[in-house]
Amino acid sequence: MTKAPRGGPKSPSNLAGVAKSLFSPSAKAQVAALNRTVFDQAKQIAWLERLVTELLVEYRGSSLMPPERLRMHVGARDSAANFWNQGRESSSRVLEVFGAAPDGLVLDWGCGSGRTLYWLYGHGAWREAYRGCDVDAEAISWLRKQKIGAHVQVCGDAPPLPYGDGVFAGLFGFSVLTHIHPERHGDWLREIHRVLRPGGRAYLTVNGPSRMSDARAFSDSSRALFARQGWFFETHDGHYKSAAIVSREHLMAASQGLFEVEQYRAAAYHEHDDLILRKV
Ligand SMILES: C[S@@+](CC[C@H](N)C(=O)[O-])C[C@H]1O[C@@H](n2cnc3c(N)ncnc32)[C@H](O)[C@@H]1O
Repeated sequence: MTKAPRGGPKSPSNLAGVAKSLFSPSAKAQVAALNRTVFDQAKQIAWLERLVTELLVEYRGSSLMPPERLRMHVGARDSAANFWNQGRESSSRVLEVFGAAPDGLVLDWGCGSGRTLYWLYGHGAWREAYRGCDVDAEAISWLRKQKIGAHVQVCGDAPPLPYGDGVFAGLFGFSVLTHIHPERHGDWLREIHRVLRPGGRAYLTVNGPSRMSDARAFSDSSRALFARQGWFFETHDGHYKSAAIVSREHLMAASQGLFEVEQYRAAAYHEHDDLILRKV
């Protein structure tokens, strides 16, 4: 067995030994090999992103890829692959819920820079039906400059939305309530109710109770607070990065008398709960 160095792991003689081994020819060779692998992979990813963009332009007539800064406004990663993938998945869910040819206008509440919109535009009927809004003026301005004819506009951080009563057959909001303080959810559900026509449906994703089960992320007292009040709000810096975590009961209370719950799925859309509400 090798003897532990005298003076503990941080003693100067030990640090000198570590430094020496780091700069040994074999360590240097390993680092160089790793660098080459990372560099090759980065090159291949960049090459694949260019290829996908070219294919999209060839087959769809355009590719919609906002700058990294705007991608970070709508997610935790800024890669093009993540932006495409999230948009493919959210648009598939929208097509499942509202169909390929919706019966009336549908609002993408918190549309960001068009991650879902782009894929919906592959369906002719959605070019007519789609409306989008977001508090992010920069994202809306960027989307408008893309000249894809998208009906998108800036909306406020609090109700009302810039639309009349009952104009929408449907509304969807991917990870929007997740960033709004739970005490304001009731106001937003009333506003969503106002802009939907009778029988209109809303699809929403939320951070549900399963999010609180991560013992590394939440203290016992945070979990106890969640159990008592039915919600928890964590503040983070960045564009709408704060997180609202809510119980099913919290949502049911906020939608009481406004909607009937057509579907509620726990942790079914990525890590989010999702629900379909029908205006009564
Ligand atoms: C996690 S991102 C999701 C964006 C988009 N739904 C998607 O899936 O690509 C949350 C979005 O909600 C927007 N947002 C936050 N509060 C909002 C509000 N009160 N009204 C409209 N948009 C809001 C943010 O600007 C951001 O674009």
